[in-house]
This record gives sequence, C-alpha cells and structure tokens, in this order.
Amino acid sequence: MRVIVTGGAGFLGRLLIQGLQEEGVKDIVAVDVAEAEIPGCRMVQGDLAHDQFLPELLKENPCTIFHLASVVSAGAEADWEHAIDQNIGGMLRLLEECRRSEHLHKVVFASTLAVFGGATAGGEVGDLVKQTPSGTYGTTKAIGELLINDATRKGHVDGRSARLPTVIVRPGVPNAAASGFASGMFREPLAGIPSVVPVSEETVMVVGSAQNTATCIRMLADIDGSLLGQDRAVGVPGLSATVSEMLEVLEVVGGPEARALVTLEYDAATDQLVQSWPAELDDSRGRELGLPADANLESMVRAYVEMINQ
Ligand SMILES: NC(=O)c1ccc[n+]([C@@H]2O[C@H](COP(=O)([O-])OP(=O)(O)OC[C@H]3O[C@@H](n4cnc5c(N)ncnc54)[C@H](O)[C@@H]3O)[C@@H](O)[C@H]2O)c1
Repeated sequence: MRVIVTGGAGFLGRLLIQGLQEEGVKDIVAVDVAEAEIPGCRMVQGDLAHDQFLPELLKENPCTIFHLASVVSAGAEADWEHAIDQNIGGMLRLLEECRRSEHLHKVVFASTLAVFGGATAGGEVGDLVKQTPSGTYGTTKAIGELLINDATRKGHVDGRSARLPTVIVRPGVPNAAASGFASGMFREPLAGIPSVVPVSEETVMVVGSAQNTATCIRMLADIDGSLLGQDRAVGVPGLSATVSEMLEVLEVVGGPEARALVTLEYDAATDQLVQSWPAELDDSRGRELGLPADANLESMVRAYVEMINQ
C-alpha cells in the first residue's frame, strides 16, 4: 500500500510518518511546499494546489492519502486570498485527481474544532452540532469536510475528516497557528526560555497530545466506512483545560522556575480567534468508533518531555 502524506514535512505529518514507519509501511510519499528530508520516505516538494505531481503518484495502486497540508489559523486570518487558494484549492485539486484516477483512494483530511464558532463559541460541540466558523481557517476546513462527504457519496474517494483539538506540545519553532501559545507556554519554559500567553487565565481550550492525535488520524483510515455513514467528519477526543490549569501542570512538570517564565500579555486579535472556538467537546462518537483519548493534561506534557529526551 502506498501512503501519501500531504503537509508531510509539518509537525503532525512527520509524527504520522514516523508511526507508519514503525508499523512497517514502506511506500510512504511526503508532499510539502517546504523543502525537507525525511529518512526512509520519498519526498515530493511542491504546491498541492498548483503543481501537477498527483497523477503520477496515484496511478499505480489505490493509495491512502493523509491530507494535512494547510495554511493554519492565524496565517489564514492574516491572508484570506492565500488561505482560500491553498486550503480550498489544495482540497479541490486532490479530490479532482482522485476522481480522475482509475483507483478508489482513501483520503483522511485533518480538520479542526475551529469549524465551530459563532453561537457555539466557548460552548460544547459534538459531531452533530452545526458548523458556524468564525474565522477563514475554520471556514476552509468546514468546506473541506463537506467536499470530502460529497466526494465519498459520489464514489470519487473513500473520505474521512478528523476534527482535531489544539495539539500540545508542539516541538521546534512555532507555526502561524493562533493556538501556538498553548504549546509555547510549555515548550519554552521547559527549555529555560520565557514565554508569553496572549489570552486570559480563564480561557478554556480543547487540547490533545501530538501522539494521541496522530494515532487517531492514523486509526480513522482503518475504520469501517459503513460505521461512519454519510457524515465522514469525526471529532477526535480532546480534553478541556483552562490556561490556569495548564500553568499548574507546567509547575508540576517543570517546577516553579518554569512557571515563573510565563507572562500574560493580552493580544486582542489572538484572543478573539481563540474565544470563537469551543470550550467543551462531546467526543462520544469518536470514542465509540474506537479512537483513544489522552488520560489527562499532565500526561500530555510528560509525553512531550519524553519525546524530546529520546
Ligand atoms: N497542530 C494543531 O494543533 C492542529 C489542530 C487542528 C488541526 N490541525 C491540522 O492538522 C494539519 C497539520 O497541522 P500541523 O500542526 O502539522 O501544521 P504544520 O504547519 O506544521 O504543517 C502543515 C504543512 O503543510 C504544508 N503546506 C501548506 N500548504 C501546502 C500546499 N499547498 N502544498 C503542499 N504543502 C503545503 C506546510 O509547508 C507545512 O509543512 C493541518 O491541516 C492543520 O490545519 C492541526
């Protein structure tokens, strides 16, 4: 089986590829606009929305495609044209090339809880709640989910969408996600570096560990399609936590000296986006489908510490 990971040079893409390699999958192709080298994996550098590499990749056999390439939240809000071009353009190109292919390919799309917003901002959401995104990023992802549902209904692909919580703790350098501070507030202090939180301590976020989230994306590919029905978008299990609870966990894991490195400096634009996201997730459908969940916030942070110390 060939596995294609779009956005394969990104944070979750690399983690997913590592997991696939540990499973023994040999034919993995990472597609990304960014130049990267991933050991044991063929890399195709290109823009999914505009470059023409897919027909060649899809021609031999049915593939499983993990579609992670995306302009992310604050980046999308800052440049609408780019977000529409890349996120919607990329999805349309992918689905069109799958439709033209003589094989039925499986597509697992990385969506987000930012598909919710509006009246549900700060409230509880679940798989059956109406999507009213309050940002361009969430809008492009909601459109992507609908396109996946329709392409599946038409028999062009076997599609699934994983609605991901905010993933913590992201290693390395931050990307353009508005939720980036939720990783930075652990990553930087645990490395002895100061970090700024741009929202209030009462802000609630739905979070998941990188390891559990990557596992759920992977598992969604293997779930029997008949169990998903027509709505292929599944909420990936996540836990609600306030910024204040996150700071407490930082202190437990890194000590008071790590906690002292975090300062609160309110930023209205970031706060506005973060407040538009849900604060509670009814993830019962995902759990019934067999998707695992993190035990608690502390285990997520300890999993990160273990990962960077490997
Ligand atoms: N990390 C999170 O907290 C989180 C939460 C919810 C949803 N998601 C979604 O999960 C996916 C992966 O997230 P991540 O944190 O790894 O992001 P990331 O920014 O680390 O990786 C995304 C990758 O996509 C690539 N890319 C963007 N546009 C492209 C294009 N047109 N063609 C080819 N490559 C392109 C980028 O170069 C980047 O390497 C994204 O779709 C994101 O929206 C992530």
